[in-house]
Amino acid sequence: MAKITIPAANIEFDCTNDTIMRAATRIGLGFPYECNVGECGNCRFELIEGEVSYLRANPPGVTERDVQRKRYLGCQALPQGDCTIKVSLRDHYKSKFLPKKTTGELIEAFDVTHDIREFRFRLSENAKFIAGQYGLITAPRVEGARAYSMCNTGEDGAEWHFQIRRVPNGAATTSLFDNLKVGDKVGLDGAYGMAYLREDAPRDILCLAGGSGLSPMVAISRAAAKSPALKDRNIHFIYGGRTPRDVCGEQFLKELEGYGTRIHYIGAISMPDDPSSAGWTGKVGFVHDIAEQVFGEKLGGMEVYFAGPPLMSQAVMKTLIKSKVPAAQMHFDQFY
Ligand code: FES
Repeated sequence: MAKITIPAANIEFDCTNDTIMRAATRIGLGFPYECNVGECGNCRFELIEGEVSYLRANPPGVTERDVQRKRYLGCQALPQGDCTIKVSLRDHYKSKFLPKKTTGELIEAFDVTHDIREFRFRLSENAKFIAGQYGLITAPRVEGARAYSMCNTGEDGAEWHFQIRRVPNGAATTSLFDNLKVGDKVGLDGAYGMAYLREDAPRDILCLAGGSGLSPMVAISRAAAKSPALKDRNIHFIYGGRTPRDVCGEQFLKELEGYGTRIHYIGAISMPDDPSSAGWTGKVGFVHDIAEQVFGEKLGGMEVYFAGPPLMSQAVMKTLIKSKVPAAQMHFDQFY
């Protein structure tokens, strides 16, 4: 067992078979993080004393400067004995439901599109989460965990459902899509993430998604639709794909009370000239452009949630900044 000390906060905690950030989060500390898989760099800390190794070899979030300054990634750092570290803890990163490690048994899987499938797991021990959060899945015979957002709402935490897009040649999605059968088990850890539904925000909601960003936006919409605090708010959902076979999400919104009155869906494609797009009568463009066209100045008064490929998220962010959406009204987790 290793003891981690943060002298500036007068805190000591145990870290056994865990990374420093995750161990801190499990006991309710506000250790900064975002992606949880060694890529964004948000979980950096300075090592004052002790030694750490990395869970993932050469995590991409480490820079030359980090190495020179003895800075490490908390989400990947495994202590090799007692350590003293320097990090700024912030309440923003505290979890309402403390993340925990469990096992998930696959109880159902079905295709959402040609490359997105929903996987439903029953947990060995309930783990509650807030709609919009993500979990880490360790697939059988795959090294390391991957972060995926849940599409259900997690009040009791008995089941976690994920809508996952297949990554060509990706080890984790190949294992999940091609090898995992009903009854098989995966490792689960969570929940994590700050892009969850804010029920105390008295504004209309805009969900923007592409790729497997579908999953957390479906969760947000489902939770918002049944939230008494948000019953007078509109929920707008825009999903972008390349061609019509990618466009999805409406089927889940149609199941919600209020669909067509206060819950609205727009599907859009970005490759109208592709032969497979012939006959498409819906919107054409990227989700950030569609959001700007449809809502214009109203964007600044909305609570905006978004998830999708990095280029989409960057473009959405630029549009929201240009449209003067306050930072506190934008919610996303940076994945790569
Ligand atoms: Fe650790 Fe992203 S690199 S949270």
